[in-house]
Amino acid sequence: MGLMSKKDINLVIRDNDTQLSKCLNSFDLTMLGIGAIIGTGIFVLTGTGALKAGPGLMFAFIIAALACLFAALCYAEFASMVPIAGSAYTYTYTTIGEIFAFIIGWDLALEYMLGVSTVSVGWSGYFRSFIEGFGITIPSQLTAAPGVITSDKVTGVFNLPAFLIVLIITFLIAMGIKETKRVNNIMVLIKIVVVMLFICVAIFYVKPANLSPIMPFGFSGVFAAAATVFFAFIGFDAVSSSTEETINPAKTMPRGIILSLLICTVLYVIVSLIMTGVVPFKLFGQYEDHPVSAVLKYSGQNWISGIIDIGAILGMTTVMLVMLYGQTRVTYAMSKDGLMPKFFSKVNGKTDTPFIATWLFGMVSALLGGFVSIDALSEMVNIGTLSAFILVAISIIVLRKTAPHIPRKFKCPAVPIIPIFAIIFCLFLILNLDPITWLRFLVWLIIGFVVYFVYSRKHAILNH
Ligand code: ALA
Repeated sequence: MGLMSKKDINLVIRDNDTQLSKCLNSFDLTMLGIGAIIGTGIFVLTGTGALKAGPGLMFAFIIAALACLFAALCYAEFASMVPIAGSAYTYTYTTIGEIFAFIIGWDLALEYMLGVSTVSVGWSGYFRSFIEGFGITIPSQLTAAPGVITSDKVTGVFNLPAFLIVLIITFLIAMGIKETKRVNNIMVLIKIVVVMLFICVAIFYVKPANLSPIMPFGFSGVFAAAATVFFAFIGFDAVSSSTEETINPAKTMPRGIILSLLICTVLYVIVSLIMTGVVPFKLFGQYEDHPVSAVLKYSGQNWISGIIDIGAILGMTTVMLVMLYGQTRVTYAMSKDGLMPKFFSKVNGKTDTPFIATWLFGMVSALLGGFVSIDALSEMVNIGTLSAFILVAISIIVLRKTAPHIPRKFKCPAVPIIPIFAIIFCLFLILNLDPITWLRFLVWLIIGFVVYFVYSRKHAILNH
């Protein structure tokens, strides 16, 4: 068995013993998508994006949305071909081959594990803003990573709230608490209401003069911002992992993915337009850790700003739950297949969860959230996710040739054009990330290959 060995899709479906009931419709899937999508990207990274693109930030959101839309169509086809709960890792192992699957799994770790850290830093900014409303202050040194200058010009030492929230999330996941459909729907509603509230109030403070020039740093500024705010769309792939529980996935799945993306895109474009219309974009340098609520404080709407803080805090909490859960699930699958050490899939008898793995990932995410800046973290998440998207798009093209007979309940339109667009857009966004991020990603990939050749190949269950 070689690098390209594949798991038999029929066996995977047979062994997949979960008896999940088919209960999710398009509405539920859309809610699931929005629940995983709206978070730090819109609540925090809009500040960084505004500094890079000025009022052109809204164009950056449109570019990032297009990249996601093309990738999402590929994801939907993949999910409908391999109709089991899983992720791009599982899909690729049954269709393309082992090494490809391993690298996707390795990239997904950047998306999920570092995603949790990124969102925790965003959470910390809003938490601080919220408790400050009650006159409680945390020493500034304890609210930012080393080297990061806080809004009151103090250099950070450790981001304590970010660290602590990840520990709490880890505890919940390790105890087996899963977000239910009901909690998710409530959270999504809160997020949408908070974003709408922002739009309805802040729109009255827009000064057209702030919007011109619309692209103070030209297209290069817009493209750099697009690579940053791409983070805001991550999470829609969570939808595709629920195929098994979906009623009539062929119709429902693409609808859910595309609707959630579209709704978020519309909200993001309006929010970014209003934000840069109310506050001169250069001022976002001072408001970087909680820009959305800061816009309302700037307009003198302190109460509403507090409500936005609460919505953002709750909203980001659910994103972290989904991501940490996703991380444990991907490594669980890799470990079951022998590609990762056994203890990653060791399930605790009491909690029924991969207890050790959950705490291991939780601790790493918490420490990264405490010690690394949000910009460095989010760029790594973006490059990991963009590479996974590229691999998924390539797979769709390849599979139409090599496995035309596998039934597809949903077909990505205009293959190979749409997947090629996905690849081009994602590559383009990668090129617009900081070169230091490319280097870090390269190191991550090299470590991945070492793990694969030294450990995974020898232990892969398929090879025995
Ligand atoms: N899209 C998610 C967020 O912005 C990851 O927090």
